[in-house]
Amino acid sequence: MKLIDTHAHLFSEEFDRDRTEVVERAIAAGVTKMFLPNIDSSSIASLLKLEEQFPENCFAMMGLHPGSVNEKYGDELSIVEHWLAKRRFCAIGEIGMDYYWDKTFVPQQKDAFEKQLDLAKKYALPAIIHQRECFDDLFEIVRSKNDKNLRGIFHCFTGTLEQANKIIGLGGFKLGIGGVITYKKSELPETLKHIELNHIVLETDSPYLPPAPHRGKRNESSYIALVVQKIAEVKGISVEEVAAITTKNSEEVFSL
Ligand code: NI
Repeated sequence: MKLIDTHAHLFSEEFDRDRTEVVERAIAAGVTKMFLPNIDSSSIASLLKLEEQFPENCFAMMGLHPGSVNEKYGDELSIVEHWLAKRRFCAIGEIGMDYYWDKTFVPQQKDAFEKQLDLAKKYALPAIIHQRECFDDLFEIVRSKNDKNLRGIFHCFTGTLEQANKIIGLGGFKLGIGGVITYKKSELPETLKHIELNHIVLETDSPYLPPAPHRGKRNESSYIALVVQKIAEVKGISVEEVAAITTKNSEEVFSL
């Protein structure tokens, strides 16, 4: 069974102690490919180092995370552009908007997001999108930029069926499903019953959002098996089928 983790921050300091073991554990669990969304200029060195260590399994994205957008975002975007011009990355990410933590830099977040969607189109790369408490504003931006060249993933999708259908209607976007689907109070299982599996990709968002029964601990890519199990249960199909379809979807997004 081959699985793909489309979103894992395995380069972050939470894994400094045992990063190699974590990646090897994932590979042993069938998670042969892990896609690494960048955060900001401070994470690039460790991001590239991990990719260099596991060139067959770990793939670096380039982008500026909305949580790192502040008054200096122009400098950060220049660094993103510098790296994109210098070498090939697997995607533009992680980009997007977040009204949950801080609304101080909303105009800057919007501008950074728009500029990075343009970079995704310029380099013909998928856009890996983070959104929290800002769906309508963010969706409007994606819709205004959407064309047949724009594609990607709405990462950590936990929204309504109506929102899912809007994303699917864009044409080139998949929904990233992770540990949240295993949470007791999550409405995601019910929503997922009405969404075809060909719109879904798997993710962990490691080290965040570990699936049950690991809640409150550090997440890692090997735990994606628990997400697969839950999706299989919700859809009433085998884990092998969930793995095959979601892997094919991920390969499509990342042009593998
Ligand atoms: Ni993330």
